[in-house]
Amino acid sequence: MKDLIMKKFAEVYGDTEGAEAFFSPGRVNLIGEHTDYNGGHVFPCALTIGTYAVARKRKDRKLRFYSMNFENLGVIESSLDDLEFNKQAGWTNYPKGVIWAFGEKGYKVDCGFDMLLNGNIPNGSGLSSSASVEIATGYILSEMYGLDVPNQELAIIGQYSENNFNGVNCGIMDQFAIAMGKKDNAIFLDTSDLSFEYAPIKLDGAKIVISSSNKKRGLGDSKYNERRSECEEALKEIQAGMGINSLGDLNEEQFETVKMAIKDEDRRKRAKHAVYENQRTIKAVNALKNNDIELFGRLMNESHVSLRDDYEVTGIELDTLVEEAWKIDGVIGSRMTGAGFGGCTVSIVKDAAVDAFIDKVGKAYKDKIGYAADFYVVEIGPGPCRL
Ligand code: GLA
Repeated sequence: MKDLIMKKFAEVYGDTEGAEAFFSPGRVNLIGEHTDYNGGHVFPCALTIGTYAVARKRKDRKLRFYSMNFENLGVIESSLDDLEFNKQAGWTNYPKGVIWAFGEKGYKVDCGFDMLLNGNIPNGSGLSSSASVEIATGYILSEMYGLDVPNQELAIIGQYSENNFNGVNCGIMDQFAIAMGKKDNAIFLDTSDLSFEYAPIKLDGAKIVISSSNKKRGLGDSKYNERRSECEEALKEIQAGMGINSLGDLNEEQFETVKMAIKDEDRRKRAKHAVYENQRTIKAVNALKNNDIELFGRLMNESHVSLRDDYEVTGIELDTLVEEAWKIDGVIGSRMTGAGFGGCTVSIVKDAAVDAFIDKVGKAYKDKIGYAADFYVVEIGPGPCRL
């Protein structure tokens, strides 16, 4: 891949003198969905697929961007003096947002760069292609501009740029999973204080399979921000009678005792998901520590049911992928992953069942939805690196 992107860089920008190549992963969340903005736990991991990048510093303040995933757009030019969100600027709003956020956090970026990207995460699939680009940009700035920003700080800057530049109120999970990724490990992260531990994922005789619904979505136009406000409102209603900081502070019993403080029934369901999903995530990680992968799988399934019925972020595409997966012998667990409303599911599938899984789920999906799903058997990889 390095040769390919270097060659393309030379084609686009003339030569490769002073250019360096980098990689930043995508991520999949195994369990703990829509908990990261509720002070709960998440359990994501970085993938070996992601964003490949080449960058070279410039002497002036110009920024030039080229993506091999959007070749028809050609080179998109901007400048350090034009760090404002602009719909027309498309995907370049992600790197621009990060450069802007570096400035806001006191890191000086005083000259521009030429950048070329080539991602092998399906765009808009819910595997965090945007956070991958954000962390790629942050890592490049940190390394090439000698800023030495710790990876955890890159995650915070990435989220800050997405919230404040791109206007998506996302939590910290995606950027954290990518910036802090570790080969063959998932990250058990407590989003209330960013304490975390790595948990080895040893799936003897099983694989992680991602099914992409190919229903495109962007977080900005989904109901993501709406769900987030519903949870905030529910929290306020509970806080009127109880001193908690976030929904993640409650366990199931406590929630059942105070839930009638939430006036609206839909809002009560959203809060229930946030509380139960957080507890499920803690249980799932314990199950994994006890080598009880079957229990881990059952908790994944329960997570999907809660996202479908209480949080209502699945939709017919994701439900079909998951419900068809559940029918197959050798599927340990299956659920939607990421924000929902389209995107992907994640399944743990015994080696011997992988082919049947792809075949049967694929056929049933095409029959019902009318277009094909894509399947990826993925591996857990490290965080961003130089190539
Ligand atoms: C998106 C957001 C994350 C997280 C998930 C849902 O991926 O970027 O912060 O909220 O949705 O778990």
